[in-house]
Amino acid sequence: MFESKSGVFLIAGIGFFSLSFLVMGVLPWTMYLDQPELTVEEIAEQGILHEFVDLAERFPKQFEEQYPGGVTTASFAEALELGHKIYVGEACWHCHSQQVRPVSNEDLRWGPVSHAREYQNVLQRPVLFGTRRVGPDLAREGARRSNDWHVAHFFKPTIVAPTSVMPEYPWFYDEDGYPNKRGFAIITYVQWLGSWLVEYPYYQGEGPAGPTTDDAINQRRAGTQTKKKETDF
Ligand code: HEC
Repeated sequence: MFESKSGVFLIAGIGFFSLSFLVMGVLPWTMYLDQPELTVEEIAEQGILHEFVDLAERFPKQFEEQYPGGVTTASFAEALELGHKIYVGEACWHCHSQQVRPVSNEDLRWGPVSHAREYQNVLQRPVLFGTRRVGPDLAREGARRSNDWHVAHFFKPTIVAPTSVMPEYPWFYDEDGYPNKRGFAIITYVQWLGSWLVEYPYYQGEGPAGPTTDDAINQRRAGTQTKKKETDF
């Protein structure tokens, strides 16, 4: 077999295929085998998002209609699960990635570089890393904008971002223009993105849009950034 060139290539081909299958398939699989994948309920039990409570306070009547039990771990889990389904179903991933990559200073724009451990839960199935970025990466979207901003934005993106090419989503609203179940769910979902990080959420002038001087950037990278005062934003 080794006398002919094609024989050598065949053996090499099978060899390299097996090697890549081992390194990229079997090895990562065994590395994470003992790590349980979090369920939506387990995620919700880690703490109810402030933004979910805020939605209930902002739209009490509409929220009560959709979630008669009010803000509970169960209703939060339900909203997260539906929000994720909508994100997949509406193909938001077609224009948005969910992975801050360790290149091109992405961390300065969007926040900490994504880590494999962040994706160990059912809301990351199917994988939504995405490759196209017609819109910004959303892995650190949580608390970057207010609920009000999202309510206006999903209704008609150009209200808050005049040059936006993002589609309008009127079916996230009831006939009076208040968020319906889908609206609450998708907002809860985008507000959840990145909220699991200790150094999150970024808001009030901190984070990606925050530091502009070299010192501030280095401080942030070293994790020694001094918190800004509440009035700074
Ligand atoms: C055709 C491409 C496209 C699709 C589809 C799309 N978006 Fe966008 N999105 C954009 C663009 C472009 C922007 C930036 C301008 C703006 O803020 O509207 C954006 C901005 C956003 C922002 C604000 C990010 C920030 O903080 O600046 C959020 C949140 C968002 N999109 C969520 C979604 C969700 C959820 C869906 C699916 C329901 C979706 N997008 C579908 C293109 C898209």
